[in-house]
Amino acid sequence: MSSFPRDPAFDSTFALLREGYRFIPARCERLDTDVFETRLMLRRAICMRGEEAARMFYAPDRFTRRGALPQTTLRLLQDKGSVATLDGAAHRRRKAMFMSLMGAESLAALEAAAEDAWQARIATWPARQDVVLLDEAHAVFCRAACRWAGIPLPEAETPARTRELAAMIAGAGAFGPSVLKALRLRRRTERWASGLVRQVRRGALQAPEGSALRVFAEHRDAEGQLLPPGTVAVELINILRPTVAVARFVVFAALALHREPAWRRRLAAAPTSAELEAFVQEVRRFHPFFPMVAGRVRAAFDWRGHHFRDGDWVLLDLYGTDHDPRIWGDPEVFRPERFHDWDGSPFNFVPQGGGEHFTGHRCPGEWATIALMRGAVRLLARLPWDMPEQDLTVDLSRMPAQPRSGVILRLAPPG
Ligand code: HEM
Repeated sequence: MSSFPRDPAFDSTFALLREGYRFIPARCERLDTDVFETRLMLRRAICMRGEEAARMFYAPDRFTRRGALPQTTLRLLQDKGSVATLDGAAHRRRKAMFMSLMGAESLAALEAAAEDAWQARIATWPARQDVVLLDEAHAVFCRAACRWAGIPLPEAETPARTRELAAMIAGAGAFGPSVLKALRLRRRTERWASGLVRQVRRGALQAPEGSALRVFAEHRDAEGQLLPPGTVAVELINILRPTVAVARFVVFAALALHREPAWRRRLAAAPTSAELEAFVQEVRRFHPFFPMVAGRVRAAFDWRGHHFRDGDWVLLDLYGTDHDPRIWGDPEVFRPERFHDWDGSPFNFVPQGGGEHFTGHRCPGEWATIALMRGAVRLLARLPWDMPEQDLTVDLSRMPAQPRSGVILRLAPPG
């Protein structure tokens, strides 16, 4: 059994914060390997990238997500008792609860809710000179997510809920005061969501059949027990927060439309569904979002001559795998056509994790994300906007990343 190639630094926490999405790929290249050992926050960590590493990482029941994320990231992104922290049969049962929302009918309802919310928001644009697309998309998806989830959201409450959910996303990879603020806002969201669950269980609020609020409030664990209201609140937030987070992909899609005028023209005309899909997939591959996923080994195993011990902390590089030149020729070139002949492997294109949706930890919201992006791209391609002078830099040390300006759009005057 050989030892892992080693990052020579004593501890690489600051290098990770400085290099962000580039941290794992840079060391893989330097050490000429797909897997290496380093130390982060004074803890031994094994980092990996590439299709074979993803296949190994997503082998059923091999890793637990428990104890694998920094506490603040866990609190802001998934939280204690959530589906991500479960394993084995308990995980599969809870995951089925999420996947029951991802059928064609439910996704069509989400798309319709988003379309209405976009139309209402876009109607306000001509009266404003410039709009910050990230803020607009956050608000649109907050409204759409609540309607889809069966949650009443009075107009006056939308800005506060949007702010809370957006702060959880922005704070997930941060340290310092912004995290404290995001945690404070999150507690507010949790109180609100727990209150909704109690109202549904008392019969004081009717949540539509098939909506997340109803399904989650009525869900029973393997022992036939209802989930505690706090856990239902956490899982509701696990629907609302990431749906709002799709705004970041929409902003990157607008950037791609701006930089690829031929694609903008094609998508504004009558694109085939394959063209639209290819564009959306390339936005998800090319642009940075979740840098990596983390797990801890549940039972020791060997892989490619390396020994993984029980409890080992392992990080799989998602961004690096989506930019692996062995899988994606010219990975730094934005080229939607590459998806026309993609082999569909669940391990080589992993912006939202890999492997199985139903039985593994792969993101259950992947089809919802694609549906929301398709709708937004269709609308944005047709609107007559331009981008005024602004700072579009994407700082790859900031996780999650975004164009610095949030992408300002200026609507052409009617004429
Ligand atoms: C898990 C990314 C949208 C709900 C994950 C994971 C990633 C991810 C990387 C972890 C996979 C793993 O642990 O192996 C994203 C990105 C999104 C997005 C980039 C785009 C904005 C959504 C949406 C929903 C959602 C729209 C719900 C409607 C969840 C849940 C989990 C999860 C509940 C935990 C699943 C489990 O542990 O079994 N997501 N996601 N996500 N995502 Fe998403």
